[in-house]
Amino acid sequence: MKIAVAQPEYLIEDWPGKYDVFSWLEYIVTVPNPIFFITTRKPNGAPNANLNSWGFLIGEKDNYSSLIALLNNSHTYQNILREGEWCVGFPSFQHYRQCFETIRLNAQDNDEITEAGFTVELPKSVQAPRIAECSINLECRLAWHHPLYENSRWHLSQDESYIWLWMKL
Ligand SMILES: Cc1cc2nc3c(=O)[nH]c(=O)nc-3n(C[C@H](O)[C@H](O)[C@H](O)COP(=O)(O)O)c2cc1C
Repeated sequence: MKIAVAQPEYLIEDWPGKYDVFSWLEYIVTVPNPIFFITTRKPNGAPNANLNSWGFLIGEKDNYSSLIALLNNSHTYQNILREGEWCVGFPSFQHYRQCFETIRLNAQDNDEITEAGFTVELPKSVQAPRIAECSINLECRLAWHHPLYENSRWHLSQDESYIWLWMKL
């Protein structure tokens, strides 16, 4: 793709490495959704959190599905390939700081959810943990995954329609 515009000056990084992880163009062309969590289990069983914004939720009546974009070097992507499960959780603004703590605490074997000040909640139908403070939780099982294009570091994963949807409103 040929890009005929330079990065505008007003687009400055509000967290370190932002425009290494994402292209600045994504903030203009593919405006991200509100943030949410993808939670999974690490190889040692510890809860893992991925603060996520490139996702698409669609559905009708009692069938809903999530299409999420993951970096292929993320723990979450590896956890989903290994266990085929994840939960989606929508945090509220009052937990904004803790949401970003999960990124700072990102490591191989730790419980990122508890360490960031959230509460791990046991799911009903999958093994991937939920975050109790999230008002909406979805329990998902992998249907398919695919790179965005050949050799892309972004992978799209879709679940086979939510198994459970929890709301605390
Ligand atoms: C606002 C925001 C949105 C993000 N969206 C995504 C996303 O859609 N997909 C992704 O893989 N990482 C996304 N990230 C980066 C991950 O949250 C970050 O790399 C995280 O530490 C990965 O955790 P993991 O390695 O445990 O999966 C986002 C980060 C922020 C701050």
